[in-house]
Amino acid sequence: MSEQILHKVTIDNITVEVPAGTTILNAARQIGGDVTPPAMCYYSKLEGSGGKCRTCLVEVSKGSEKDPRPMPKLVASCRTTVMDGMEVKNITSPKVIDARAGVVEFLLINHPLDCPVCDQAGECHLQDLGYEHGKEGTRYEFKRRTFHKVDLGDYIQLHMTRCIMCFRCVFAANQLTDKREHGILDRGDHAQIATFIEKNLKNDFIGNVIDVCPVGALTDKTFRFKNRVWFTKPVDAHRNCNNPKCCGEVQLWMRGDEVFRVTARKDEWGEVKTASNGNTGWICNTCRFETKKASDWTIEGPSNINRHSVISQGHYVGVTKPTETFSEVMKGRDPKLLMDIHDESEVNKPNIDLSLLDRPAHSTDFNK
Ligand code: SF4
Ligand code: FES
Repeated sequence: MSEQILHKVTIDNITVEVPAGTTILNAARQIGGDVTPPAMCYYSKLEGSGGKCRTCLVEVSKGSEKDPRPMPKLVASCRTTVMDGMEVKNITSPKVIDARAGVVEFLLINHPLDCPVCDQAGECHLQDLGYEHGKEGTRYEFKRRTFHKVDLGDYIQLHMTRCIMCFRCVFAANQLTDKREHGILDRGDHAQIATFIEKNLKNDFIGNVIDVCPVGALTDKTFRFKNRVWFTKPVDAHRNCNNPKCCGEVQLWMRGDEVFRVTARKDEWGEVKTASNGNTGWICNTCRFETKKASDWTIEGPSNINRHSVISQGHYVGVTKPTETFSEVMKGRDPKLLMDIHDESEVNKPNIDLSLLDRPAHSTDFNK
């Protein structure tokens, strides 16, 4: 067997060795953390994805050991392969940060700035990017592109107004289902995801387009607006699915005993994880939409959620709770007065201790 050729690449002053042919983005993912550029259209499990959104731009300050000249323009890291001795700047390059902020602003030109009423809020990559780059406001004064919401069958709703044309759902339908029935119609400013003649998308793996959509354009009709995602508790669960292509390993989004939503499990890049059988953990429509009782599943335990995610609020896996007492926090002084919110607040019912509820508080827990 021929020996694998390795290339040394330095990204933000951290050096890794990766096989020849690896993209800068995937090399950066091996380092992890902030060094990794964001990716709104690239999806490692979808062949051909990437090169559409430009959020993954980086500066190549040294092309390679043999040809150390810098690349004249910022490059899309998901589409540029590493060379031996290459040096790349991501968060250490003011040019990159500036250009990325511009890209985010362009992505938001035709995207509504209404995160508080969007079903994807809390798990939207565009929302995160917008806030990270200070682009939660807008300078755009013209009318945005707007579309009617379209039901793509019983389970999926398309709201093109939120689409950023990343093509992921088209690749997912092409590669996971037997027959792709939607695609991109028209060009330029008129381009849209559509089925041409309104059509139900019925294929048994089509639900995965919801998981790959980085924004709230494709949403689960069985979950839409039933809850905010940060009020639910995600747990890992599995069942014996008889669809041979389905791994049956999922995340249940629960509130109390109720299963509100079923999704594939996601990794730290927001992509569907590899399942225990070594395949990508895509799940079938039956697991996703039709098995919504906790008793349908074997629950493994709470999912690990990134602590920077809003979803991790009220979800304490892996967190060490502080043990200090008041006087330690107050550097040896005891508090002069301690008040109990339950006695003081007029909206609280005296017999309900909110901190002891094993569920989110409902309106019935408060006085009217
Ligand atoms: S609907 Fe979602 S996944 Fe499909 S192209 Fe638009 S943003 Fe991408
Ligand atoms: S992730 Fe590279 S261009 Fe979109």
